Amino acid sequence: MFIHLLGKRCNRGVEGGIDAGKIERTRNAGVPLMLQSRAQKSAVFRFSPAGLSQAARRDQAPWWETFQMAGDATRFDCKVAIITGGAGGIGAATARLITARGGRVAIADIAFDRAQVLASELPGALAIALDLESETSTEAMIAKTVQHFGRLDVLHNNAALLGPDIAQADGDIEHMDTALWDRTFAVNVRGTMIACRAALPHLRATRGNIVNTVSNLALQGHVIQAAYSSSKAAIIQLTRAIAASHGKAGVRCNALAPGMTMTPALREAFPPALRQVVEDETLRDQLGDPEDIAEAAAFLASDAARNITGQVLVCDGGGASHVPGLSGFRTFFS
Ligand SMILES: NC(=O)c1ccc[n+]([C@@H]2O[C@H](COP(=O)([O-])OP(=O)(O)OC[C@H]3O[C@@H](n4cnc5c(N)ncnc54)[C@H](O)[C@@H]3O)[C@@H](O)[C@H]2O)c1
Repeated sequence: MFIHLLGKRCNRGVEGGIDAGKIERTRNAGVPLMLQSRAQKSAVFRFSPAGLSQAARRDQAPWWETFQMAGDATRFDCKVAIITGGAGGIGAATARLITARGGRVAIADIAFDRAQVLASELPGALAIALDLESETSTEAMIAKTVQHFGRLDVLHNNAALLGPDIAQADGDIEHMDTALWDRTFAVNVRGTMIACRAALPHLRATRGNIVNTVSNLALQGHVIQAAYSSSKAAIIQLTRAIAASHGKAGVRCNALAPGMTMTPALREAFPPALRQVVEDETLRDQLGDPEDIAEAAAFLASDAARNITGQVLVCDGGGASHVPGLSGFRTFFS
């Protein structure tokens, strides 16, 4: 059993609120203690009796001097995250999760109405109208966030050019419409690059990080969505380039590759017969939900992933981890 005592207050950096009596009572009862700082600046550090009340200072036993504070590195207390496409299926789940873990989120989306509705439900959240195809709009997203919150810790590039019409028009290269290819790269690659470029000075200041959402389609060939999958593959290389150029400045950059994820939009639009094909190739007993992808995004964005950068985390229920034809083998042996 651990007792959590919250010591620091957001944005003030002052010690306060430590219940020294509770510490002593708990210690006497032989219960291990974890003192948790709201700021989560460091996961483990020495505890100084000087910061404690008179009551606690009375006890100068050596354990005070060697006491270590362990924080929860998955939390976002005092941190600010932008989530592009934050009004969509996976983006909204991620905005909810980061807020639940103590962060404040900017929900940036071309669907501004939906972003506003979600922001009204989440404490401290800000809705921003964003069109990733516009350089001005994308740069303004970063500026508005920093102006509103005073800092930026996480840029989560989650938005993409999607939808049934787009997916249907995006087939193989021989039949590719140049305008669709250009628009896909304008939103997905150019938009992501501009957002990263504008965010990097602020992320350097906070030793923050970037999480770029790509796709399992960026890692393997398919008969569908050549423009989309190529654009996501380009984002993987952009991810590695940023990780390499900005790692020494304390900025991490990772990519997250979801497999087919049952968002409301996909549930409605994806043909059930094809959904079954994907389910058969998935090692888990169900397709991922938006909350599953949100967990992976929040992990990469948190200090829990502080030693991970320049990587692609595949979050697809094992779909991309096995030899081709697994489903046929399963049928044969059953
Ligand atoms: N759902 C899946 O199966 C799946 C699989 C692999 C990867 N992904 C990736 O996950 C991310 C989220 O996808 P989702 O399934 O939640 O989709 P979604 O359609 O539910 O959400 C996407 C959001 O992006 C916004 N958006 C679109 N164009 C924009 C623009 N120009 N400017 C700003 N916002 C814009 C949309 O309004 C929408 O709210 C995307 O990058 C997608 O490629 C999803």
